[in-house]
Amino acid sequence: MMKKTHTRFVCQSCGFESGRWTGRCSICGEWNTLVEEAAPAPASPRSRKGRSDLSPISITEVAAEAEPRKVTGIGELDRVLGGGIVPGSVVMVGGDPGIGKSTLMMQMAAAADFPAMLYVTGEESPRQIKLRADRLLRKPSARLQLLAETNLDDIETLLTRVHPDLVIVDSIQTMYRPAFESAPGTVSQVRETTAMFMRMAKTYDIAVFLVGHVTKEGVIAGPRVVEHMVDAVLQFEGERHSTYRILRAMKNRFGSTNEIGIFEMQDGGLQDVLNPSEVFLSERKSGTPGSTVVAGMEGTRPLLLEVQALVAPTSYGVPQRSSTGFDSKRLQMLLAVLERRAGIRVGQYDVFVNVTGGVRIDEPAADLGMAVAIASSLKDTPIDPTAVVIGEVGLGGEIRSVHQIDKRLVEAAKLGFKKLVLPRAGRRATPTLDGLSLVEVETLDQAITTLLG
Ligand code: TYD
Ligand code: MG
Repeated sequence: MMKKTHTRFVCQSCGFESGRWTGRCSICGEWNTLVEEAAPAPASPRSRKGRSDLSPISITEVAAEAEPRKVTGIGELDRVLGGGIVPGSVVMVGGDPGIGKSTLMMQMAAAADFPAMLYVTGEESPRQIKLRADRLLRKPSARLQLLAETNLDDIETLLTRVHPDLVIVDSIQTMYRPAFESAPGTVSQVRETTAMFMRMAKTYDIAVFLVGHVTKEGVIAGPRVVEHMVDAVLQFEGERHSTYRILRAMKNRFGSTNEIGIFEMQDGGLQDVLNPSEVFLSERKSGTPGSTVVAGMEGTRPLLLEVQALVAPTSYGVPQRSSTGFDSKRLQMLLAVLERRAGIRVGQYDVFVNVTGGVRIDEPAADLGMAVAIASSLKDTPIDPTAVVIGEVGLGGEIRSVHQIDKRLVEAAKLGFKKLVLPRAGRRATPTLDGLSLVEVETLDQAITTLLG
């Protein structure tokens, strides 16, 4: 009997399925994301037969030992994974083309060195992979097997026959199930691919890494549904011209999502960056107005970063506000507070802000540093280059407390800073460190006076 297919329209952004085409997805609100996809007809009710021997198990009988993990030895990767690779878990690794996903996967396979590993490649030939491996590793392990295949049926059959401990799929967008008429990379195919590897991972205890490309908007192409299915989503970020790469956990069922891993892309592949603060501050030019250093926390690790602002008179009607690495709504808020509470009038000026090194700061603790940098640029007065500034700015212009002051303080002292400007609010006894003086502030106005005179 011929399998009947019916068409439907699937949103390529959120995975919503609709019977008719609309210009805008009614669930996620994205425009022009509905694409026609054919799907196999649903099974008839008669053919739907469940197992009769199914029975639940008491919660007390479920084994609950800690997940045994395989430490890869690549420190930054282990950190983001939450302490190593969990057998039977499915991890999605997303990022722009050329950022280094395949490189990271190859280095991971080499370092983890499981008894049996399979690299399924849909983008590059085994020869290209071999060339990369030779470049990265002096001698690739014979335990790493390559498979140039994109047909899911065939891969599934292979996996039911041999069960490697680690499978890398590069990339998820190239895999397809022939029974589905839609092209590789469409929602149905990406979802089916993920589901198949999930099933294999859980059945045979295989750790699976799915490589995925990212669309311009910064979401992993394919539906968010996929992100919900997998155990962890790691995002590989970095700027094209910079050699630094940041690996960020967007989701992790086995660890924290706060941790980031920092790498540098070198000739010999990705290297762990052990002293990120030092690296991110290395190109700082002291004495420039509009620049200061903030102490952020990325997971459990303090990170000193340079924030920059440029304030220039508006030449055309509406002033521009542009921000890189800093939340733009937060910037709007800071500008309003500066104007109303500290008399810094930026209404007729364009304001550009930037966090150097391609890093994103999502912490309110960076507010004060950014606000003072804006004031510094407007007044054309440099901020003391030996100062680190932390504090959240409230709508009343008050400086609010931040957590983990001690760690930030130690990092600032370690890198030779002389002054730490911090909130008075919520202060407990903090260790006094040689050579680092603490300046407590209560209001934005006071901080600006302290730092800019
Ligand atoms: P790749 O891992 O192929 O990126 P992706 O899989 O995310 O598309 O990495 C591609 C870039 O990395 C390429 O521009 C070359 C660079 N690279 C190095 O600088 N050093 C290296 O050792 C390797 C293997 C790649
Ligand atoms: Mg690649």
